[in-house]
Amino acid sequence: MALYSKVTGCGSYLPSRVVTNAELAKRVDTTDEWIRQRTGIRERRRAEDGELTSDLGVKAAEEALAMARLSGADLDLIVCATATPDETFPATATRIQERLGMCQGAAFDVQAVCTGFIYALAVADNFLRLGQARNALVVGAETFSRILDYDDRSTCVLFGDGAGAVVLQAAEGNGAIESGVLSTHLYSDGRHHDALYVDGGPSSTGTVGRVRMEGREVFRHAVVRMAEAIDAALTANGLNPGDIDWLVPHQANLRIIEAMARRLNLPEDRVVVTVDRHANTSAASIPLALCEAVKDQRIRSGDLILMEAMGGGFTWGSALVRW
Ligand code: ACO
Repeated sequence: MALYSKVTGCGSYLPSRVVTNAELAKRVDTTDEWIRQRTGIRERRRAEDGELTSDLGVKAAEEALAMARLSGADLDLIVCATATPDETFPATATRIQERLGMCQGAAFDVQAVCTGFIYALAVADNFLRLGQARNALVVGAETFSRILDYDDRSTCVLFGDGAGAVVLQAAEGNGAIESGVLSTHLYSDGRHHDALYVDGGPSSTGTVGRVRMEGREVFRHAVVRMAEAIDAALTANGLNPGDIDWLVPHQANLRIIEAMARRLNLPEDRVVVTVDRHANTSAASIPLALCEAVKDQRIRSGDLILMEAMGGGFTWGSALVRW
């Protein structure tokens, strides 16, 4: 008998404050038309002053736990993916742990920017496969609005705040996994630091810093790298693109998402898109999209879900989940 991870719950949370393209156009030299044409983004959410990444993460976690019929005390692992932690330390995961009433096991953050959720899912899945935890919470939570340069029109229009979470529970089985995480594939290449980074940090400037990006360079790599990660996922599982029921991609840019869907020959209605309303919420974008499609019952029991992402580092990766 082998151990594997069942996905038993998911949850999401978006701050209530909506920031439209028109509102941003009052602050920087841009237009609603430019943003929509180049990215597909119409609006994004922004956390209120004093509303922290952990606050967003707790709300998403509570919903995911309710669906799994678990309480915080049942958890023995929390992995939180975030590039915008509440504080430099301790880990935002430990803030979430305390708020959920969990005081056993381990809680820690992983940092892979926009690929963060795939990384956190892989870490938690491997803990469960090795028998090191039984009930894990995987959170992707971000307040990117805090690290944007609102004088830089090429980045400040692209990102939003939000959180999503899933609960993984260890299960035993022989042979094919009927419901759960089939595989995860992770990659990084630190030579691309300068294409996407934050120009601050505790050890470099002592300040928080702001997002800096060479958009065209990121775009070019994103399409190639995510296609490689998709191929790796399909090959490892002996699957063809035609076997995929849902693509739940990282939501950075509608053009990147469409390029991935074309590559898989997937029709539009099999791709979960939230970038128009959420913009790029970094590590939160995949679980936010996943939960939306689970809640509105597009994703149903037994569906095969492919997730892919790329982010600063560069990092990139994919995950295949049977719902
Ligand atoms: N409004 C109006 N004009 C703008 C804006 C704006 N908000 N931003 C840039 N421009 C201008 C530029 O200054 C440039 O003007 P110029 O030709 O006079 O110099 C022109 O638009 C074209 O700029 P490009 O950067 O070449 O535009 P592009 O078509 O590549 O679109 C974008 C830019 C949307 C950033 C695109 O490159 C992209 O989406 N890249 C991927 C980046 C990304 O998604 N990063 C997120 C993190 S990584 C990830 O999640 C995959």
